[in-house]
Amino acid sequence: MAIVVTAKAGFTFRIMILSLFFMCLPFYSSAKINDRPIIGVLAQEVYSQKPNQTAYIAASYVKFLESAGARVVPVMINQPMEEYKKLFNSINGILYPGGGVSIISSGYERAAKIFYELAIEANSRGDYFPVWGTCLGFEQLMYLTSEKTILSQTNTSGVALPLNFTNEIKDSKMFKDFPAELIEDLATVALTENSHKWSLAVLTHNSNEELNMFYKVLSTNTDGKVEFVSTVEAYDYPIYGTQWHPEKNAFEWTSPYIPHSPSAIKTTFYLAQFFVSEARKNFHKFESEDEESKALIYNYNPVFTGPKSGFEQIYFFRFFTLDI
Ligand SMILES: *[C@@H]1O[C@H](CO)[C@@H](O)[C@H](O)[C@H]1NC(C)=O
Ligand SMILES: *[C@@H]1O[C@H](CO)[C@@H](O)[C@H](O)[C@H]1NC(C)=O
Ligand SMILES: *[C@@H]1O[C@H](CO)[C@@H](O)[C@H](O)[C@H]1NC(C)=O
Repeated sequence: MAIVVTAKAGFTFRIMILSLFFMCLPFYSSAKINDRPIIGVLAQEVYSQKPNQTAYIAASYVKFLESAGARVVPVMINQPMEEYKKLFNSINGILYPGGGVSIISSGYERAAKIFYELAIEANSRGDYFPVWGTCLGFEQLMYLTSEKTILSQTNTSGVALPLNFTNEIKDSKMFKDFPAELIEDLATVALTENSHKWSLAVLTHNSNEELNMFYKVLSTNTDGKVEFVSTVEAYDYPIYGTQWHPEKNAFEWTSPYIPHSPSAIKTTFYLAQFFVSEARKNFHKFESEDEESKALIYNYNPVFTGPKSGFEQIYFFRFFTLDI
């Protein structure tokens, strides 16, 4: 009798396993991948403007995404809301680059806020739209999520550091495909380039409910005085941020503190690969091929600025300031 019960229970168990398997199956077999991902890179105001150079994008962010198989569309500042909504529905993700404009009031901030809110809204209804912030972009994300200016000054404007990983890295999305030896190098060798005067202190993050509930801290760093958050990923949204510059290792050469070792270069590509793979889960499309081709960054030529700037090449844009 006891044996029969066990057998029955075993049978039920097998049915459960089997139905779980079939329940999962449709997801795997129908998981579509976008093989033509297009990612927006946000422009920002040029510090000392010239008639035809009012906004810019450092070319290294474009190369970063292109290196993992994405095409790039520049997202201009000071555009009407309707233009941004249309563009949002045409691209598969957005990157907020580093730079030096205000995260409280600038064309960069206004566009970043619009795309952030559109992304939150889209993701909440199952339209997967990834967002990445690097350096200033990271700080912008922290401001958009917390709606507070809570950054602390740190002595980090031009220094390579190893990452102090938290336990959260074990089930992180960002680092899950990194080889173990690269994680080991990132944790012990100064591979991540920092160029920022402001940082999110770990204490501030932990005591701010919005940030604490929204972002998982994957790594921290210190300038010797302030321990600050250096890598985050959102718990419930495909939103990612690095206070450091993964794109510089492979593509920027003007500053002596940018690491270019094989592990540093791999770090660029593994993170590019990660973010582009996120964009491959989105299926927004331009209304026509013609519209797509007019929007792509290929319509612009980067300028060689290496000797006089922190960037080897820069895309400059000219825009008409709208009355907004
Ligand atoms: C600005 O661009 C326009 C159109 O491309 C060109 O005709 C003009 O010469 C440029 N001006 C400067 C100062 O580069
Ligand atoms: C800032 O950090 C650098 C090392 O990265 C150090 O040489 C310098 O003394 C520090 N400055 C201050 C004011 O702590
Ligand atoms: C790494 O982070 C831990 C936890 O916040 C901290 O206790 C430790 O001092 C940090 N180590 C370094 C080298 O910054």
